[in-house]
Amino acid sequence: MEEKEKDQTNVGAEGREENSKRGSGASLLEAVREEAKRALAAVRDSRALYEVRMKYLGRAGKVTALLKGLREIPAEERPSFGKRINDLREALEGEIDALEESVRRRELEERLAQEKTDVTMPGKRRKQGTLHPVTRVRNQLIDIFVGMGFEVYEGPEIENEYYNFTALNTPADHPARDMQDTFYLTDEFLLRTQTSAGQIRLMEKKKPPIKMLSPGRVFRSDDDATHSPMFHQMEGLVVDREVSLCDLQGMLDEFARTMFSGTSKTRLRPSYFPFTEPSVEVDVSCAACGGKGCSLCKGTGWIEVLGAGMVNRRVLENCGIDPDEYSGFAFGMGIERIAMLKYGVNNIKLLTENDVRFLSQFRD
Ligand code: DAH
Repeated sequence: MEEKEKDQTNVGAEGREENSKRGSGASLLEAVREEAKRALAAVRDSRALYEVRMKYLGRAGKVTALLKGLREIPAEERPSFGKRINDLREALEGEIDALEESVRRRELEERLAQEKTDVTMPGKRRKQGTLHPVTRVRNQLIDIFVGMGFEVYEGPEIENEYYNFTALNTPADHPARDMQDTFYLTDEFLLRTQTSAGQIRLMEKKKPPIKMLSPGRVFRSDDDATHSPMFHQMEGLVVDREVSLCDLQGMLDEFARTMFSGTSKTRLRPSYFPFTEPSVEVDVSCAACGGKGCSLCKGTGWIEVLGAGMVNRRVLENCGIDPDEYSGFAFGMGIERIAMLKYGVNNIKLLTENDVRFLSQFRD
């Protein structure tokens, strides 16, 4: 059918011939008009409409070809036939323009409907991170002690033997070196086993009064449910005139009340560290049972939380501080241990695996 139509209205060289043959070409014009009408009726979108426009009104279009064919029409018929072609062109232009407007409007509406945003749909939530429990406890410790006038000093993680051991009154042949299983990097350098090394570095630079807090990572070849080869410590050091163990306990009481419970108490037990004399082990009353005795504190009512003591005279001397004029106390605690006690975590690995299901429980 379409092929036939094409044949009828083919107004190329052949068409012009036909025009002249018939004298008026009127039937050809009618055929073009009819065909264009049908083509317009079949248009569904702006693309098809554009094709129709080109097919009839374009430079190689059928109406344009009719106009070109005028030359071959007898002179007396030309004006009236020319007018008919122009009328057809104008009519077609008008129809196409009108159709174009409605087609475009419909297309726009369809697009708007399709791309509509439903503002009542629930939004996509961004997952919010939380501070790691070790970071939380570290920050809390810093808050507590900075509130008491301490300054934060962070020492290096790679230390030499002198700062990590020797200056802390632990010479090479000292049996206390065996207390900490050390990762040596070379004969001289090692991964620090304790933040106590920072005491020496600070006292070499700063003279009393000193109130220092030194948080950081430490390393020991140790690995079980409560020990990890890398963990965090918080060191504290106070050096001034007439500093006593009572001052230490007063500050630690304040720490325990803020960190664990308003009724927490501390207890000092004799112990040994090469860099303190006397040395103590500090227990905090068990927050889980209030000191009555439970499985957490193994029935004792107390939980060991840190090591401390009065700074050994030799350590002060090693740093050029006169032990007859000044005295000091120091303490060191494991941050993971405090976090485990505070949050009831029974395996230190949970703090290093970084499983989000575990970590996301620590929110404010
Ligand atoms: N450095 C010790 C350790 O890692 C902890 C310690 C004990 C630190 C007594 C101190 C202290 O400052 O006075 O086991």
